[in-house]
Amino acid sequence: MSAEFTIIKNGPVKITGKFVLTGSDGKHLSVEGEEVHLCRCGGSKNKPFCDGSHQSNGFKG
Ligand code: FES
Repeated sequence: MSAEFTIIKNGPVKITGKFVLTGSDGKHLSVEGEEVHLCRCGGSKNKPFCDGSHQSNGFKG
């Protein structure tokens, strides 16, 4: 398994490659394809995934 993590300016972290995403309950989260964007701003209504809310909530990071 090999994955690349990219921090997107003022946005999510993008993960690409081969990976398994495990939730806080220990269960694997299903991810379609080989790319996922995880929320860093805390504003997503679909955590842990980015839903684009960072574009309107003023997140800087
Ligand atoms: S980083 Fe995109 S919704 Fe939080």
